[in-house]
Amino acid sequence: MNILGINGSGRVGGNTAMLVEAILKGAAETGCETNLLELGRMIIRPCNACKVCKDTHQCVIDDGMSEFYRAAPDTDVLVLASPIYLDHISAQTMTFIQRMYCYLGPGLEICYPHPGTRAVLGITYGAQWRKAYDYVLDWMRARLEEYFGIRTIEYFRVHSTKHDNPVGPEHPEIQRAYEFGKTLK
Ligand SMILES: Cc1cc2nc3c(=O)[nH]c(=O)nc-3n(C[C@H](O)[C@H](O)[C@H](O)COP(=O)(O)O)c2cc1C
Repeated sequence: MNILGINGSGRVGGNTAMLVEAILKGAAETGCETNLLELGRMIIRPCNACKVCKDTHQCVIDDGMSEFYRAAPDTDVLVLASPIYLDHISAQTMTFIQRMYCYLGPGLEICYPHPGTRAVLGITYGAQWRKAYDYVLDWMRARLEEYFGIRTIEYFRVHSTKHDNPVGPEHPEIQRAYEFGKTLK
């Protein structure tokens, strides 16, 4: 089982990293192959609407997104997590999702290279209400499912986060993420 984690935060080593890494750690301990892409370390340019991909299913932009394009055909579970920036996913995560546009046919047909890929979605945010951003999770779920055929199997919400003191492994949602990771085998 191949698990690919995407930390959609603009920074590494924060709350979102902790969430994604907990899932990957649990998965690795039960024999899954795991890989992590940290969008905050990568240069991924926005889609420039050239539409060449409508014929080729390949993006012409040669940048960090190539790492995802290489991994996608072999990825069984995509762990995609974003911090909330001004009530939505980060620009890094939005750009990442929009660059998956190359996997849509000219009539919006699903052309994702690995049918059967499942998703685990996560968000981290400072607001204190657990369900404050469920509309964001639902937005992510619907985009992945309707455009790429990727079904979401679990959601994680790390709320009340602090920028200067990121959550640790003892946080209940991080523990749940780690235990969940072990079930992905
Ligand atoms: C630019 C920016 C905008 C933010 N906007 C929100 C927001 O709208 N709602 C919220 O609850 N938290 C907001 N936050 C807090 C982050 O979502 C929160 O600290 C998150 O856990 C950061 O993840 P990270 O540690 O992986 O960077 C914002 C933080 C930043 C830097």
